[in-house]
Amino acid sequence: MPLWLTEKLKVRETIKKKLKFKGDIFFIEHHLSHAASAFLCSPFQEAAILTIDGVGEWTTTAFGTGTGNKINLIKEIRFPHSIGLLYSTITAYLGFRVNNSEYKIMGLSAYGNMNKKRNEYYEKLKKIIEIKEDGSFKLDMKYFVFHYAEKMPSRKLCELLKGKIRKPKEKLTQRHKDIAAALQLITEETIIKILNNVFEKTKKENLVLAGGVALNSVSNGKILKNTKFKNIWIQPNASDGGASLGAALYVFNSILSNARNYEMQNDFLGPEYSSEEIKSILEKNKINYFKFKNETELIKKTAELIYQNKVVGWFQGKMEFGPRALGNRSIIANPCNPEMKKILNEKVKHRESFRPFAPAVCKENAVQFFECSPLQKPAEFMLMTFPVKKEFEKKIPSAIHVDNTSRIQAIDKKNNELYYNLIKEFEKFSGIPILINTSFNVKGEPIVCSPQDALNCFMKTEIDFLILEKYLIEKKKN
Ligand SMILES: [Fe+2]
Repeated sequence: MPLWLTEKLKVRETIKKKLKFKGDIFFIEHHLSHAASAFLCSPFQEAAILTIDGVGEWTTTAFGTGTGNKINLIKEIRFPHSIGLLYSTITAYLGFRVNNSEYKIMGLSAYGNMNKKRNEYYEKLKKIIEIKEDGSFKLDMKYFVFHYAEKMPSRKLCELLKGKIRKPKEKLTQRHKDIAAALQLITEETIIKILNNVFEKTKKENLVLAGGVALNSVSNGKILKNTKFKNIWIQPNASDGGASLGAALYVFNSILSNARNYEMQNDFLGPEYSSEEIKSILEKNKINYFKFKNETELIKKTAELIYQNKVVGWFQGKMEFGPRALGNRSIIANPCNPEMKKILNEKVKHRESFRPFAPAVCKENAVQFFECSPLQKPAEFMLMTFPVKKEFEKKIPSAIHVDNTSRIQAIDKKNNELYYNLIKEFEKFSGIPILINTSFNVKGEPIVCSPQDALNCFMKTEIDFLILEKYLIEKKKN
């Protein structure tokens, strides 16, 4: 705590002195930043707010309401009792990186044996979290060491789960998958219980969510069916990266009392590059290219390449804000080809074979293919997972997870017309208005930002074609 206070003072001093900044400086609490990052750019003038993460200051979960430009957090749960830290502890126990790979555990959970809804690990994990009727919860701290040690899983937790911590390269067994499934189910049940209580306390129809746990798309997809909320909004950068937006909005709207004037329609807030910049990078790197005359030619050729099962690096416009590539820094491929998951993993992604690839679907087709009605805005940000309708399971085999669900991205024409038109063009070839969309990066690297990043990624993988705005580059075969 003393170190933290000193740092805070140092930051204030540095800003004042080095940047010669003369205005006021505010420190916005972590969960208030999360709450603001969800509510103040949402479409709602009134909403219930729930924030859930590992921990920020001392808070791990908070709820309250937002009205106009004001936020009122009315209750919180404090460290060490944390859904996020429970999830991270089991992530570490299963041999994955904490604060990094929690979403992989969510993906792995679909392979768990949960035929009777509950497996033995569910019963065991239930012992270490006590969830009360009012939605508050407590971890049994004798199973945890994260509050004083660096390592997350304790010896007692290993005893409870009857096995050692999995080493990162160790084979994933059915037992590991069952533990992931148990954890995911407990997380979902806890969130639903908390939300039912939030509804009772706030009586709002609209709900906004933030914090790292709000990126759990599997649980997000179940909220409207299991609570009384009618509408849901989740800011696409829901974890700590997006808290920066919340802090800025909170100062502007709530402290300085400016009216709200920003509703986030899309997350294309990052840098973009001109045609000249791209051309000069290609020429500097001595890359042969073809330039499309217009967008019609661009989407026609790209759709055709995808239909021919080529893997395409797709780089257009402004980069996405947040952890998901949503069609501007994406790798795109044919979801109808049952081999495409394997091809993508071999050619470029080199990632764990259990992880699914997600479908980008034109918004008006989403309810036709997926059980996602009524479609909510977070589905445009890949923040909700839904079952695929039975009759389409065989049509898009490579964009479906093992439990026949998909973390969809619904494309609204007004937010990304080029991408929308490309998918519609692909439909002309395949009859399916859906593409596989995965982030444009290789394992262990961030999503590409600049044309040079895209070119580097293209060179070190076997992506067949790279499209930088209107420039087409083909991989030279030796
Ligand atoms: Fe956080």
